[in-house]
Amino acid sequence: MKTIVSGIQPSGTLHLGNYLGFLRQAVELQDNSGCKRFYFIVDFHSLTGRYNPKEKAKEIYELAVDLLAGGIDPKKSTLFIQSHIEEHANLAWIFNTITSMGQLERMVEYKEKVAQGITPNAGLFDYPVLMAADILLYKGELVPVGEDQLQHIELARDTARAFNRRFGKTFPEPKAILTKAPRVMSLNNARQKMSKSLPQGCLFLTDSPKVMREKIMRAETDSHAEIGCDPKRRAAISNLVMIYAELSGMTTSEVVKMFKGVGYAEFKKELAELVIKTFKPFQERRAKVFKNKAQVMKVLEEGARNARPIARATMEEVRKKVGLI
Ligand code: ADP
Ligand code: TRP
Repeated sequence: MKTIVSGIQPSGTLHLGNYLGFLRQAVELQDNSGCKRFYFIVDFHSLTGRYNPKEKAKEIYELAVDLLAGGIDPKKSTLFIQSHIEEHANLAWIFNTITSMGQLERMVEYKEKVAQGITPNAGLFDYPVLMAADILLYKGELVPVGEDQLQHIELARDTARAFNRRFGKTFPEPKAILTKAPRVMSLNNARQKMSKSLPQGCLFLTDSPKVMREKIMRAETDSHAEIGCDPKRRAAISNLVMIYAELSGMTTSEVVKMFKGVGYAEFKKELAELVIKTFKPFQERRAKVFKNKAQVMKVLEEGARNARPIARATMEEVRKKVGLI
């Protein structure tokens, strides 16, 4: 039985990139009864960025609501909060001692954040080691994530290999699983990935229909006469075509054919209506789940209760192997 593991940071509302690159696949993977699934809210990771302590608790709760409303089913997946299982940090410490500074210095996400002018704390530098611990604590083999996380998963593989070589076979070597839309680009800057740090080009799943329409109508295109899909040369319009294809279940060439001879404005109008229709049921479920705090907290507690024995057993095995008494 394969083990699927993934984490997501509580640092703002979910957006279309999170949905197409991560959430939809995490939900679909629940149909495979031959797999075990651990999905968690990585609250410790989210403390490595700037945050307001008063907002943090709200963000954690809202992400749990989003995940449940988005289709994570506690009967099929173990859903919990990372910091509720103390072994995540304990295993990260052990992994710190087998990870070189050079490996972490090569991490692109870290370098990008520093280049943006963020003053890094030690936690931000060490972030990929905690992520390796998240995955390997449950002996995760498959990790559904967006493309931006590939290098971190590679580090988790290196960590598993280094540990196994030194202390004997303990961990599997995890692999990322990507969707067909592993990198959704920003609506107003197709050279950057859609991210909550660029809110204007980011379609949040909770945006009102009016805001969704506005963001899509304002989205960057190009000066060609018709839509097309050529991500290298026409990144902006290809991104919109890809979004339409993903949400309609069509291929990108089918979308291009369907809108042949139709102007950009008309295509965007249709895209906006498709996005609004797709996320209406999510928004309705979200409003209901949000009000039921007792139930949401119960799910998270039960999730932690189920994850804990597995985390403890791995940590116990690791302690023995490295020689702790
Ligand atoms: P953000 O970059 O907005 O802060 P997160 O880092 O919280 O988003 O990402 C959560 C999950 O969504 C990860 O698996 C990540 O790889 C995926 N993801 C984030 N942005 C995108 C995107 N633009 N396209 C595809 N997947 C994405
Ligand atoms: N680094 C991931 C992100 O920013 C979040 C994450 C933390 C994660 N731990 C993980 C993803 C373990 C997959 C598995 O999106």
